[in-house]
Amino acid sequence: MSTRVLVAYATRYGSTQEVAEVIAQTLNRSGLPADVMPARQVRTLAGYGPIVLGAALYMHHWHKDAIRFLSRFRAALSERPVAVFALGPVHDPHDEHEWQESLDQLDAELARLPWLTPVAVALFGGKFDPQTLSFPWRQLASSEPATDIRDWEAIRDWAANLYPMFTGLELPGHPA
Ligand SMILES: Cc1cc2nc3c(=O)[nH]c(=O)nc-3n(C[C@H](O)[C@H](O)[C@H](O)COP(=O)(O)O)c2cc1C
Repeated sequence: MSTRVLVAYATRYGSTQEVAEVIAQTLNRSGLPADVMPARQVRTLAGYGPIVLGAALYMHHWHKDAIRFLSRFRAALSERPVAVFALGPVHDPHDEHEWQESLDQLDAELARLPWLTPVAVALFGGKFDPQTLSFPWRQLASSEPATDIRDWEAIRDWAANLYPMFTGLELPGHPA
């Protein structure tokens, strides 16, 4: 199977896309060629081996483009290593209760997909800007501060650790 990785993402406001791009860059640097694409634009997984799927959490659920992607490519995904991530918590400073709720939401989404056994699962902090929201969210959230708690070091670390899970090999230059 090819070692070319597809990093598919589902986003409303772009923060998940930026995370997907950093993950692909990190995979490229570790020796795995990786392409980045919006999940809804993917027509085939032919030519790709491992898959990374990332989506923001909205209203307790994974972005619907991620759920549709999983349903459209279920057969092909069952034969490939799949890593998944979600963006969710946005409170700054860190809010343990919020993180636990987002983790529970991601767990609940994955529990509805018993056929999917990801090699890696991650929850990352997200980005929130009430000014960019559409009606009625902008009015509802207007008193909330804008935040961006994406932890780029944690994101790069997670992506770098995918290499052995995707290839069955140690990362070059990093023997066990
Ligand atoms: C209207 C709205 C609802 C949200 N609902 C959730 C939620 O239920 N759980 C969660 O963990 N994060 C939630 N978030 C936070 C988003 O997941 C976070 O802002 C993420 O970075 C957005 O990603 P995007 O820019 O790729 O769309 C919500 C954000 C907004 C604006």
